[in-house]
Amino acid sequence: MAITRISQEELQEAVAALRNGELVAFPTETVYGLGANANHPEAVRKIFKLKGRPSSHPLIVHIDDAKFLPRWARDPSPAALKLAAAFWPGPLTLVLKRAPVVADVVTGGQDTVAIRVPSHPVAQQLLTAFGGGIAAPSANRFGHVSPTRVEHVREEFGDEVQIVLDGEDCKIGLESTIVSCVGEVPHLLRPGAITLSQLQAVVPEVTSAPDPDAPRAPGSMARHYSPATPLNLVPSKNLETVINEFTEEREKVAVLAMRPPGKTSEFMTWINAGSRPDVYGRSLYANIRTLDKAGARMIVVEEVPDDERWEAVRDRLRRAAAAENVVTYDPDIAALKADFGDDLLG
Ligand code: TXA
Ligand code: MG
Repeated sequence: MAITRISQEELQEAVAALRNGELVAFPTETVYGLGANANHPEAVRKIFKLKGRPSSHPLIVHIDDAKFLPRWARDPSPAALKLAAAFWPGPLTLVLKRAPVVADVVTGGQDTVAIRVPSHPVAQQLLTAFGGGIAAPSANRFGHVSPTRVEHVREEFGDEVQIVLDGEDCKIGLESTIVSCVGEVPHLLRPGAITLSQLQAVVPEVTSAPDPDAPRAPGSMARHYSPATPLNLVPSKNLETVINEFTEEREKVAVLAMRPPGKTSEFMTWINAGSRPDVYGRSLYANIRTLDKAGARMIVVEEVPDDERWEAVRDRLRRAAAAENVVTYDPDIAALKADFGDDLLG
Protein backbone atom coordinates (compact mmCIF):
# COMPACT_ATOMS: atom_id res chain seq x y z
CA MET A 1 0.00 0.00 0.00
CA ALA A 2 1.23 3.44 -0.88
CA ILE A 3 2.29 5.60 2.00
CA THR A 4 0.28 8.81 2.04
CA ARG A 5 2.28 11.91 1.33
CA ILE A 6 1.34 15.34 0.11
CA SER A 7 2.84 17.22 -2.83
CA GLN A 8 5.64 19.75 -2.36
CA GLU A 9 3.22 22.44 -3.48
CA GLU A 10 0.65 21.60 -0.81
CA LEU A 11 3.39 21.29 1.75
CA GLN A 12 4.84 24.73 0.95
CA GLU A 13 1.39 26.28 1.08
CA ALA A 14 0.75 24.73 4.51
CA VAL A 15 4.12 25.83 5.86
CA ALA A 16 3.58 29.38 4.58
CA ALA A 17 0.15 29.45 6.26
CA LEU A 18 1.65 28.33 9.59
CA ARG A 19 4.38 30.99 9.32
CA ASN A 20 1.68 33.62 8.61
CA GLY A 21 -0.20 32.67 11.74
CA GLU A 22 -2.98 30.79 9.98
CA LEU A 23 -4.45 27.43 10.94
CA VAL A 24 -3.77 24.17 9.13
CA ALA A 25 -5.70 20.96 9.76
CA PHE A 26 -3.54 17.86 9.34
CA PRO A 27 -3.80 14.11 9.83
CA THR A 28 -2.11 12.17 12.60
CA GLU A 29 -2.31 8.44 13.25
CA THR A 30 -4.77 9.11 16.11
CA VAL A 31 -7.17 11.85 14.91
CA TYR A 32 -6.93 14.96 12.72
CA GLY A 33 -5.42 18.00 14.42
CA LEU A 34 -6.15 21.72 14.02
CA GLY A 35 -2.66 23.21 14.03
CA ALA A 36 -1.03 26.58 14.60
CA ASN A 37 2.56 27.73 14.98
CA ALA A 38 3.14 27.04 18.68
CA ASN A 39 5.44 30.07 18.91
CA HIS A 40 2.79 32.45 17.58
CA PRO A 41 0.32 33.27 20.39
CA GLU A 42 -2.09 35.10 18.07
CA ALA A 43 -2.27 32.06 15.82
CA VAL A 44 -2.81 29.73 18.79
CA ARG A 45 -5.63 31.98 20.01
CA LYS A 46 -7.41 31.39 16.69
CA ILE A 47 -7.64 27.69 17.57
CA PHE A 48 -9.51 28.42 20.80
CA LYS A 49 -11.81 30.86 19.05
CA LEU A 50 -12.64 28.55 16.16
CA LYS A 51 -13.20 25.48 18.35
CA GLY A 52 -15.14 27.39 20.99
CA ARG A 53 -12.68 25.94 23.49
CA PRO A 54 -12.13 27.63 26.88
CA SER A 55 -8.64 29.14 27.10
CA SER A 56 -7.95 27.14 30.26
CA HIS A 57 -7.80 23.90 28.23
CA PRO A 58 -4.15 23.50 27.19
CA LEU A 59 -2.96 22.21 23.82
CA ILE A 60 -0.49 19.53 22.78
CA VAL A 61 2.69 20.70 21.04
CA HIS A 62 3.61 18.38 18.16
CA ILE A 63 7.26 18.01 17.14
CA ASP A 64 8.81 15.71 14.57
CA ASP A 65 11.58 14.26 16.72
CA ALA A 66 12.31 13.69 20.39
CA LYS A 67 15.65 15.46 19.93
CA PHE A 68 13.75 18.78 19.96
CA LEU A 69 12.31 18.08 23.41
CA PRO A 70 14.72 20.50 25.18
CA ARG A 71 13.24 23.38 23.16
CA TRP A 72 9.86 22.81 24.81
CA ALA A 73 10.41 21.01 28.11
CA ARG A 74 12.94 21.16 30.92
CA ASP A 75 14.42 18.42 33.10
CA PRO A 76 12.49 15.49 31.66
CA SER A 77 12.64 12.63 34.17
CA PRO A 78 14.42 9.36 33.27
CA ALA A 79 10.96 7.76 33.09
CA ALA A 80 9.80 10.36 30.57
CA LEU A 81 12.85 9.79 28.40
CA LYS A 82 12.31 6.02 28.50
CA LEU A 83 8.67 6.40 27.45
CA ALA A 84 9.65 8.80 24.67
CA ALA A 85 12.32 6.40 23.39
CA ALA A 86 9.91 3.47 23.47
CA PHE A 87 6.79 5.04 21.94
CA TRP A 88 7.79 8.03 19.78
CA PRO A 89 6.91 8.57 17.06
CA GLY A 90 3.49 7.27 18.04
CA PRO A 91 0.21 7.80 19.91
CA LEU A 92 1.73 8.96 23.21
CA THR A 93 1.61 12.47 24.73
CA LEU A 94 3.91 13.33 27.63
CA VAL A 95 3.15 16.12 30.09
CA LEU A 96 6.44 17.67 31.18
CA LYS A 97 7.72 20.80 32.89
CA ARG A 98 7.58 23.54 30.33
CA ALA A 99 10.58 25.40 28.95
CA PRO A 100 10.39 29.14 29.67
CA VAL A 101 9.80 30.04 25.99
CA VAL A 102 6.54 28.11 25.70
CA ALA A 103 3.62 30.53 25.27
CA ASP A 104 1.05 30.75 28.08
CA VAL A 105 -1.76 30.44 25.56
CA VAL A 106 -0.50 26.92 24.69
CA THR A 107 -0.26 25.68 28.27
CA GLY A 108 -3.25 27.49 29.74
CA GLY A 109 -0.75 29.32 31.96
CA GLN A 110 0.30 26.08 33.67
CA ASP A 111 3.92 25.24 34.41
CA THR A 112 3.65 22.10 32.29
CA VAL A 113 3.42 21.38 28.58
CA ALA A 114 2.06 18.40 26.67
CA ILE A 115 4.32 17.10 23.87
CA ARG A 116 3.79 14.48 21.19
CA VAL A 117 5.74 13.15 18.21
CA PRO A 118 3.16 11.79 15.76
CA SER A 119 4.09 9.00 13.35
CA HIS A 120 1.71 9.81 10.49
CA PRO A 121 3.84 10.48 7.39
CA VAL A 122 1.96 13.68 6.51
CA ALA A 123 2.29 15.03 10.06
CA GLN A 124 5.99 14.19 9.95
CA GLN A 125 6.37 15.81 6.53
CA LEU A 126 4.61 18.98 7.73
CA LEU A 127 6.54 19.26 11.01
CA THR A 128 9.90 18.71 9.33
CA ALA A 129 9.22 21.25 6.58
CA PHE A 130 7.88 23.77 9.10
CA GLY A 131 10.82 23.26 11.42
CA GLY A 132 9.00 24.21 14.61
CA GLY A 133 6.35 23.02 17.03
CA ILE A 134 2.70 22.86 16.01
CA ALA A 135 0.14 23.34 18.77
CA ALA A 136 -2.91 21.29 17.88
CA PRO A 137 -6.04 19.95 19.52
CA SER A 138 -8.32 17.53 17.70
CA ALA A 139 -9.93 19.31 14.72
CA ASN A 140 -13.51 19.43 16.03
CA ARG A 141 -15.72 21.97 17.77
CA PHE A 142 -15.35 21.85 21.54
CA GLY A 143 -17.05 18.79 23.04
CA HIS A 144 -17.80 17.20 19.66
CA VAL A 145 -16.66 13.87 18.29
CA SER A 146 -13.02 13.95 17.05
CA PRO A 147 -12.42 13.74 13.28
CA THR A 148 -10.77 10.63 11.83
CA ARG A 149 -11.38 11.41 8.15
CA VAL A 150 -10.67 14.49 6.10
CA GLU A 151 -14.39 15.00 5.42
CA HIS A 152 -15.09 15.08 9.18
CA VAL A 153 -12.85 18.14 9.44
CA ARG A 154 -14.85 19.77 6.63
CA GLU A 155 -18.09 18.89 8.44
CA GLU A 156 -16.81 20.59 11.60
CA PHE A 157 -15.38 23.77 10.12
CA GLY A 158 -16.44 24.10 6.46
CA ASP A 159 -14.54 26.98 4.83
CA GLU A 160 -13.39 28.37 8.15
CA VAL A 161 -10.24 26.29 7.84
CA GLN A 162 -8.67 26.96 4.43
CA ILE A 163 -6.01 24.28 4.49
CA VAL A 164 -6.96 20.72 5.37
CA LEU A 165 -4.27 18.18 4.50
CA ASP A 166 -5.56 14.77 3.47
CA GLY A 167 -3.97 11.78 5.16
CA GLU A 168 -6.73 9.24 4.57
CA ASP A 169 -8.48 7.55 7.50
CA CYS A 170 -6.61 7.68 10.80
CA LYS A 171 -5.14 4.25 11.59
CA ILE A 172 -5.79 4.42 15.34
CA GLY A 173 -8.87 6.64 15.43
CA LEU A 174 -8.75 7.49 19.16
CA GLU A 175 -6.75 10.31 20.75
CA SER A 176 -3.27 9.65 22.12
CA THR A 177 -2.52 8.12 25.50
CA ILE A 178 -1.50 10.99 27.83
CA VAL A 179 1.01 10.40 30.63
CA SER A 180 2.00 13.09 33.10
CA CYS A 181 5.69 12.84 34.00
CA VAL A 182 5.87 15.82 36.36
CA GLY A 183 5.01 14.14 39.68
CA GLU A 184 6.81 11.52 41.80
CA VAL A 185 5.57 8.72 39.54
CA PRO A 186 4.19 8.94 36.00
CA HIS A 187 0.39 9.09 35.86
CA LEU A 188 -1.84 7.96 33.03
CA LEU A 189 -4.21 10.90 32.38
CA ARG A 190 -6.03 9.71 29.26
CA PRO A 191 -6.18 6.11 28.01
CA GLY A 192 -5.36 5.53 24.34
CA ALA A 193 -4.01 2.88 21.99
CA ILE A 194 -0.92 2.45 24.16
CA THR A 195 -2.22 0.59 27.21
CA LEU A 196 -1.18 0.87 30.86
CA SER A 197 0.53 -2.55 30.64
CA GLN A 198 2.53 -1.43 27.63
CA LEU A 199 3.63 1.69 29.52
CA GLN A 200 4.46 -0.36 32.61
CA ALA A 201 6.54 -2.77 30.53
CA VAL A 202 8.86 0.20 29.93
CA VAL A 203 8.41 2.09 33.22
CA PRO A 204 6.89 -0.17 35.91
CA GLU A 205 5.91 2.77 38.17
CA VAL A 206 3.35 4.24 35.73
CA THR A 207 -0.03 4.30 37.45
CA SER A 208 -3.58 5.06 36.42
CA ALA A 209 -4.60 5.99 39.98
CA PRO A 210 -6.00 9.52 40.26
CA ASP A 211 -3.21 11.98 40.95
CA PRO A 212 -4.07 14.56 43.62
CA ASP A 213 -1.46 16.92 42.12
CA ALA A 214 -2.50 16.14 38.57
CA PRO A 215 -2.25 18.90 36.05
CA ARG A 216 -5.61 19.76 34.53
CA ALA A 217 -6.55 17.53 31.62
CA PRO A 218 -9.91 18.88 30.55
CA GLY A 219 -10.28 16.22 27.84
CA SER A 220 -11.00 14.09 30.85
CA MET A 221 -14.18 16.02 31.62
CA ALA A 222 -17.15 13.74 32.06
CA ARG A 223 -19.00 15.03 29.02
CA HIS A 224 -16.90 15.04 25.86
CA TYR A 225 -16.69 13.42 22.47
CA SER A 226 -20.46 13.80 22.18
CA PRO A 227 -22.87 13.34 19.32
CA ALA A 228 -26.06 15.47 19.19
CA THR A 229 -28.31 12.41 19.56
CA PRO A 230 -28.46 11.09 23.15
CA LEU A 231 -26.18 8.07 23.45
CA ASN A 232 -26.64 5.29 25.96
CA LEU A 233 -24.59 2.26 26.89
CA VAL A 234 -26.58 -0.92 27.31
CA PRO A 235 -25.40 -4.32 28.56
CA SER A 236 -25.28 -6.86 25.77
CA LYS A 237 -28.04 -9.00 27.33
CA ASN A 238 -30.48 -6.06 27.34
CA LEU A 239 -29.72 -4.80 23.85
CA GLU A 240 -32.67 -6.36 21.99
CA THR A 241 -35.15 -5.44 24.74
CA VAL A 242 -34.12 -1.79 24.70
CA ILE A 243 -34.21 -1.63 20.92
CA ASN A 244 -37.66 -3.17 20.83
CA GLU A 245 -38.91 -0.41 23.14
CA PHE A 246 -38.20 1.99 20.30
CA THR A 247 -39.15 -0.02 17.22
CA GLU A 248 -42.47 -1.15 18.72
CA GLU A 249 -43.33 2.53 19.24
CA ARG A 250 -42.23 3.19 15.64
CA GLU A 251 -39.42 5.37 16.97
CA LYS A 252 -36.09 5.34 15.22
CA VAL A 253 -33.16 3.90 17.09
CA ALA A 254 -29.49 3.75 16.05
CA VAL A 255 -27.34 0.90 17.32
CA LEU A 256 -23.60 0.34 17.64
CA ALA A 257 -22.96 -3.30 18.45
CA MET A 258 -20.24 -5.93 18.37
CA ARG A 259 -22.40 -8.39 16.46
CA PRO A 260 -24.97 -8.42 13.65
CA PRO A 261 -28.64 -7.74 14.48
CA GLY A 262 -30.94 -10.65 15.33
CA LYS A 263 -33.65 -9.13 13.14
CA THR A 264 -34.05 -6.04 11.04
CA SER A 265 -36.52 -3.16 11.35
CA GLU A 266 -37.18 -0.08 9.27
CA PHE A 267 -36.90 1.89 12.54
CA MET A 268 -33.44 0.60 13.28
CA THR A 269 -29.99 1.53 11.94
CA TRP A 270 -27.45 -1.03 13.13
CA ILE A 271 -23.68 -0.94 12.79
CA ASN A 272 -21.76 -4.09 13.62
CA ALA A 273 -18.34 -2.76 14.66
CA GLY A 274 -16.97 -6.23 15.40
CA SER A 275 -15.18 -7.56 18.43
CA ARG A 276 -11.56 -6.50 17.89
CA PRO A 277 -10.67 -3.47 20.00
CA ASP A 278 -8.24 -1.98 17.46
CA VAL A 279 -10.69 -2.27 14.56
CA TYR A 280 -13.60 -1.08 16.71
CA GLY A 281 -11.58 1.90 17.96
CA ARG A 282 -10.41 2.90 14.50
CA SER A 283 -13.97 3.34 13.25
CA LEU A 284 -15.64 4.42 16.52
CA TYR A 285 -15.92 8.15 15.78
CA ALA A 286 -16.89 7.63 12.14
CA ASN A 287 -19.58 5.19 13.30
CA ILE A 288 -20.92 7.62 15.91
CA ARG A 289 -21.08 10.35 13.25
CA THR A 290 -22.99 8.01 10.92
CA LEU A 291 -25.45 7.00 13.65
CA ASP A 292 -25.85 10.63 14.72
CA LYS A 293 -27.17 11.36 11.20
CA ALA A 294 -29.71 8.52 11.26
CA GLY A 295 -32.45 10.78 12.68
CA ALA A 296 -32.84 8.45 15.68
CA ARG A 297 -34.23 9.27 19.13
CA MET A 298 -31.29 7.51 20.69
CA ILE A 299 -27.96 5.91 19.87
CA VAL A 300 -27.81 2.65 21.79
CA VAL A 301 -24.32 1.23 22.23
CA GLU A 302 -23.69 -2.35 23.31
CA GLU A 303 -21.30 -2.30 26.26
CA VAL A 304 -17.78 -3.37 25.32
CA PRO A 305 -15.72 -5.92 27.30
CA ASP A 306 -14.19 -4.98 30.59
CA ASP A 307 -10.58 -5.76 29.68
CA GLU A 308 -7.63 -3.45 29.25
CA ARG A 309 -7.50 -3.57 25.47
CA TRP A 310 -10.92 -1.91 25.45
CA GLU A 311 -10.04 0.77 28.01
CA ALA A 312 -9.69 3.69 25.55
CA VAL A 313 -12.90 2.75 23.72
CA ARG A 314 -14.75 2.37 27.03
CA ASP A 315 -13.49 5.75 28.21
CA ARG A 316 -14.70 7.55 25.05
CA LEU A 317 -18.07 5.78 25.11
CA ARG A 318 -18.61 6.72 28.76
CA ARG A 319 -17.94 10.37 28.00
CA ALA A 320 -20.13 10.35 24.89
CA ALA A 321 -22.90 8.91 27.07
CA ALA A 322 -22.45 11.25 30.03
CA ALA A 323 -25.62 12.30 31.78
CA GLU A 324 -25.96 15.81 30.38
CA ASN A 325 -26.53 14.29 26.97
CA VAL A 326 -29.79 12.66 27.94
CA VAL A 327 -31.57 15.37 29.92
CA THR A 328 -33.65 16.46 26.92
CA TYR A 329 -35.07 12.99 26.74
CA ASP A 330 -36.78 12.66 30.07
CA PRO A 331 -40.21 11.00 29.63
CA ASP A 332 -39.03 7.92 27.79
CA ILE A 333 -35.77 7.73 29.65
CA ALA A 334 -37.72 7.73 32.87
CA ALA A 335 -39.80 4.83 31.57
CA LEU A 336 -36.74 2.93 30.41
CA LYS A 337 -35.01 3.67 33.67
CA ALA A 338 -37.94 2.24 35.57
CA ASP A 339 -37.57 -0.93 33.51
CA PHE A 340 -33.83 -1.32 33.54
CA GLY A 341 -32.53 0.90 36.30
CA ASP A 342 -28.91 1.87 36.14
CA ASP A 343 -28.19 -1.04 33.83
CA LEU A 344 -29.43 1.10 31.00
CA LEU A 345 -27.88 4.46 31.70
CA GLY A 346 -24.14 3.95 31.56
O1 TXA B 1 -4.13 12.22 19.64
C1 TXA B 1 -4.13 13.35 20.09
O2 TXA B 1 -3.65 13.61 21.22
C2 TXA B 1 -4.72 14.47 19.24
C3 TXA B 1 -3.83 14.68 18.02
C4 TXA B 1 -4.28 15.83 17.15
O3 TXA B 1 -2.51 14.86 18.45
N1 TXA B 1 -4.86 15.67 19.98
C5 TXA B 1 -5.76 15.82 20.95
O4 TXA B 1 -5.77 17.10 21.46
O5 TXA B 1 -6.49 14.95 21.33
P1 TXA B 1 -6.92 17.65 22.42
O6 TXA B 1 -6.61 19.09 22.61
O7 TXA B 1 -8.23 17.30 21.85
O8 TXA B 1 -6.64 16.92 23.75
C6 TXA B 1 -5.44 17.24 24.44
C7 TXA B 1 -5.56 16.89 25.87
C8 TXA B 1 -6.58 17.72 26.60
O9 TXA B 1 -7.31 16.87 27.43
C9 TXA B 1 -5.72 18.66 27.41
O10 TXA B 1 -6.36 19.07 28.57
C10 TXA B 1 -4.53 17.80 27.71
O11 TXA B 1 -4.30 17.13 26.50
N2 TXA B 1 -3.36 18.63 28.02
C11 TXA B 1 -2.71 19.50 27.22
N3 TXA B 1 -1.73 20.12 27.89
C12 TXA B 1 -1.74 19.64 29.13
C13 TXA B 1 -0.97 19.88 30.32
N4 TXA B 1 0.01 20.75 30.33
N5 TXA B 1 -1.28 19.18 31.41
C14 TXA B 1 -2.28 18.28 31.40
N6 TXA B 1 -3.04 18.01 30.34
C15 TXA B 1 -2.78 18.67 29.22
MG1 MG C 1 -10.20 16.92 21.56
